[in-house]
Amino acid sequence: MAISKKMEKAINGQINAEMYSSYLYLSMAADLNNKALAGFSNWMKIQAQEELYHAMKLYDFVLERGGSVTLDTIEAPQTEWKSPLAIFQAAYKHELLVTSLINKLMDLAIKEKDHATNNFLQWYVKEQVEEEASADEIVQKIKLIGSQGNGIFMLDKEMAARPPLFTFPVSGE
Ligand code: FEO
Repeated sequence: MAISKKMEKAINGQINAEMYSSYLYLSMAADLNNKALAGFSNWMKIQAQEELYHAMKLYDFVLERGGSVTLDTIEAPQTEWKSPLAIFQAAYKHELLVTSLINKLMDLAIKEKDHATNNFLQWYVKEQVEEEASADEIVQKIKLIGSQGNGIFMLDKEMAARPPLFTFPVSGE
């Protein structure tokens, strides 16, 4: 059964929200890099990759269900934050917003008795639990160690170890 027009529109909206999340985290990664925190920046850049993956899963699902993908303008994200703590607090807050968007999508799937979309969205419901927890964990760690000194240096090293989801070929190699 093809996806309803209403559900198609709602999922297209979520594709945009996930693309914006990727943009936002990429912007945060650049600011972290400018704040001399290469490890934090690495973590956030990989988070931006995760968001692109979230968007692509929705994209593929719409097409698989016989719907149309309509890509909308992606809003420009903020470019500077006052501290690494402010960045991760903003990321956590953003994840809470994304969770509410996923919940609304799920409400619509339930209302429409669209079991296939409901089943598909379960993955996002579970993923949001992890997304909220990982951003909040970093907020708590930064609060614990403070924004300067040895602690932040050690945490930066730890975050540098997060492996990428995918890598790009580097020119000249
Ligand atoms: Fe796509 Fe971080 O939620």
